[in-house]
Parts: sequence; structure tokens; C-alpha cells
Amino acid sequence: MELLVVQLLLTLGLAVLLFLAIFRLTTRNSRPAPTPTVVTDPDIARLMLSDHADAFSNRPTAHYPADFSESHSINSVPYGPTWRALRANLMADILHPTRLGLLLPFRQEAVAALIANLSTQAPGEAVVRNSLHAAAFALTVRICFGDGVGECYVRAMEREVLQFITTFVEDSALLAGSSRLTRLLHWRRWLRFSGTFSRVSKIVLPVIAAQQKSRRTHGGTTGIRSYVDSLLDLRVPVSDDDAMATSKRPLTDKEIVRLVFEFLGANTESTVSCVEWTLAHLAIHPEIQKKLRHEITSTVPHGKGTLVSEESLHRLPYLRAVILESLRLHSPVPLILRDVSADDAAICGTPAASADGAPVLFVADIREIGRSTKAWMDPDKFCPERFLAGGEAEGVGPVPGPKEIRMLPFGAGRRYCPGVGVGMVQVGCFLAALVREFEWSLPANCDSIDLTEFRAFFMVMKTPLRARITPHTVTT
Ligand code: HEM
Repeated sequence: MELLVVQLLLTLGLAVLLFLAIFRLTTRNSRPAPTPTVVTDPDIARLMLSDHADAFSNRPTAHYPADFSESHSINSVPYGPTWRALRANLMADILHPTRLGLLLPFRQEAVAALIANLSTQAPGEAVVRNSLHAAAFALTVRICFGDGVGECYVRAMEREVLQFITTFVEDSALLAGSSRLTRLLHWRRWLRFSGTFSRVSKIVLPVIAAQQKSRRTHGGTTGIRSYVDSLLDLRVPVSDDDAMATSKRPLTDKEIVRLVFEFLGANTESTVSCVEWTLAHLAIHPEIQKKLRHEITSTVPHGKGTLVSEESLHRLPYLRAVILESLRLHSPVPLILRDVSADDAAICGTPAASADGAPVLFVADIREIGRSTKAWMDPDKFCPERFLAGGEAEGVGPVPGPKEIRMLPFGAGRRYCPGVGVGMVQVGCFLAALVREFEWSLPANCDSIDLTEFRAFFMVMKTPLRARITPHTVTT
């Protein structure tokens, strides 16, 4: 009898211990996410990002795996001297408008590879995303590293970038708010996510080392100066407290890897997302496609090897209108995030959501602002004409001016996208070539295209676009 009681007590004790252990596992590290103040009104967005640009110039820290957090990207670095140095390097050295012409041969080759790839599927039904991604990524790698990066390295980098951006939203939520038990249950995902930086470093660092060796051998850069060249030469302030940035240092390997990873994603994914959304609308609206093709073929001579250049893009107002309309409806980056002090939040007439004086998270919803009935007539309709002379949005460009915000696909204020020029040109080049070479129409037995959105790191089509493509010269 006594033995039975002891056994019972032991079992009960073990059960209590097990319960406590599980409770501890499930509750530790569960931090409630801050409640964001979501802005969908274009006038409030202007008040924040234009009128109070300095106050709204910091992003919240995203939840990256630990070794990501040891270095910064331009996107993540706090507003200050280091941000200024990194951003100026990208804008003045690599993405400067005068350099865009130098990159034309790279773009021509990427576009030609894409057309050749799709031609093998035409006439017929094609899923364009993978071929488009491969072409855009190869172009990005050349701008980033210069020539001579082996195909296997290119594909390995592409795989890592794709994996990261498709699963980032879910994975970072796992990192931010979930319990240890949840992490334990999702251990495979957890390991893959937290190992991203070291895998990327293993691919990227040997490529950079080869580049450094070549620079030493040739006494400097050969060919077109790459982003990595600029990062190797860059000196950043030793401390952000030193406003005059008097003492400087080179970037560490980790910092270079992080910046390279950001560049590979930013230059590729938004381009691919925008081109895919636009092609979907062109397949749905054959009359818009016809008008666009007419503008392209009558403006740009079609000789062998002749492709749309940025120079000719300036003479294609309808193409620009089509791209802007696509970006208004489907901004590849869906949200603008800002971390603001409680006092600055109050400036905008928004009650501070943090009682303890902690920074307030502001989220400007790019998608909702682009579709606001306050700023747009018939906002859900795909109508590029609104951007043409005499249209309701004549004069509206990719980045808003200081007086009015009607759409902001490249953001606004101090942290607006530095890649706006190159982004518009790349999207324009891919689209112009794809529309000139092929007729895009709905697949057989379909009366429309599924435009459901999927919010990953970027806003993409949930179902990759499948369309019927016919070489333009072939009559159907
Ligand atoms: C269609 C093309 C693109 C779109 C729609 C786009 C959109 C955006 C948006 C909405 C932001 C946030 C802006 C804000 O918070 O106010 C951003 C930031 C950024 N983008 Fe882009 N982007 C594009 C292309 C590019 C390209 C080609 C690059 C570089 C190669 C680039 C690099 C960056 C960087 C580094 C930031 C962070 C800027 C900072 O914090 O100072 N983007 N982009």
C-alpha cells in the first residue's frame, strides 16, 4: 500500500515537473509584437514622410538570425553617418544615372538570354517567372561582382536569395515571437533560416577573394567597376557618434556579405515582381498590350541585336505609364516601416501607441495608398492612360514630390529607394523586349488570370503567371 502511494506521488511529481518544463518552454522568449500604427491615408503619409522626414527616418530592427545582426545593410542601418556613407556609395558610385549607359551591354545580354529561353516555349503556354528570375539574377550578379563569376556560384546565390525572401515573413515571425517549443517543433526550418548567413558567406567570400586577387595582379579594377569593387574601396565612420566622421575604417567581410546579399535581393526581386504583374495585366487587356507594342515598334528600330535602351525609354511615355500603373496596383514592396519616438508620433496627431515612451512603429501601407479612393478615380481599374498628358495623374512619378503623395512604390522621405532609376530602366527593358517579341494572352480554357497576392519579403503573384505566348511575327 505504502509503495503504491510513493509510486503515485512520484508519478504526480513527474507530471507536474513535465508540465512546468513545457510551460517554461512555451512562455519564455514570447515577446508581444508592438502594435503598429497603420497609415492608409495619403495625406497622413505625406505629413509623416515629407513634412517630418527627419523624425521618420529610422526603420525598426527586423528579426534576422543572429549573425545577420552583427552587420548592417543599407535598409537596416540607423539613420546617421554610416547610413549616409553606405547609401552615397550605392547611389553615387554604382547606380548613378551616368553609369546606366555603361551597363547597357549587360542588360542587352540578359534580355537576349530571356527571349531565347522563352522562344523555346513559343508558341505555347509559358510560366515566365523562373526564366525571368534567372535572367534578372544573372544581370544583378554582373553589376554586383563584375564578369567572370562561375555559373554554379550564380545559381547557388540565386537559390539562397530565393529561399530567404520566400520564407522570410514566416521565419522571422518564428524568430520574433514564438516559443522555444514552437522552434523545437519547426527545427528544420529554424536551422535552415539561422544558417542563411554562413551559407551565403561560403559562396560569396571566395568570389570576393578572387576579385581582390585580380585587383592586386592588375593594379586595380578591370572592366566596369562593380558594387563589390566600391565596397572594397569604401571607408565608413568608425563611430556614428562622430558626426563629422573624422576617423574611418574599411568594411569587414561580414558587412560586405550583408550588403552584397541585400543588393542581390533588391535588384532582382522587385524587378521580377513588377514585370510579372505587368505581363498579367497585359494578357488580361489585349487592347493596352496592342497600344504598348505599337509605341515600342514605332519608336525603337528592330534590327538584330537592337534592344530598348534607357535613352529610347524616355521616348516611350505609354510604357512608362503602364509601369507606373502596375506599380500603383502592385507595389513589389508592400509596406513602409518607420520607428518613431513617442513625441514625434504625437506631432502627426497620432496618439502614441507606447505608454512607456518606447518607439512607436508606423506602417505606411503602400498598396492601400495606391488604391485610395481619396487620391484615385476607379482605383482598382488597370488604366495606364491616367498617367498620360491630360489624365488624372499626369505628372505623378515613381517618387512623390514634397507637396503631395498619391502613390509611393519606391517609398518617400529620407529612406526612399536609391534604386528607383535603375529599377524603372530594368523593368522597362525587360517589358519592352517581352512585348515586342511575343503576344501575351490568356491560357486555353481560362477567362482570366488569378491576381491573388502573396506577401513574402516582396509582394508577388500567389500563382506564378502562366500565359500563352506567341512570337509576335507569327500570325495566329
Ligand atoms: C521596381 C524596383 C524597386 C522597387 C519597387 C523598390 C521599392 C523600394 C521601397 C518601397 C523601399 C523602402 C523605401 C522607404 O522605406 O521609404 C526600398 C528601399 C530600398 N531599395 Fe528599392 N526598390 C526597387 C529597386 C531597387 C534596386 C534596383 C535597388 C538597388 C540595387 C534597391 C535598393 C534599395 C535599398 C538599399 C533600400 C533601402 C534604402 C534606405 O534605407 O536608405 N531597390 N525600395
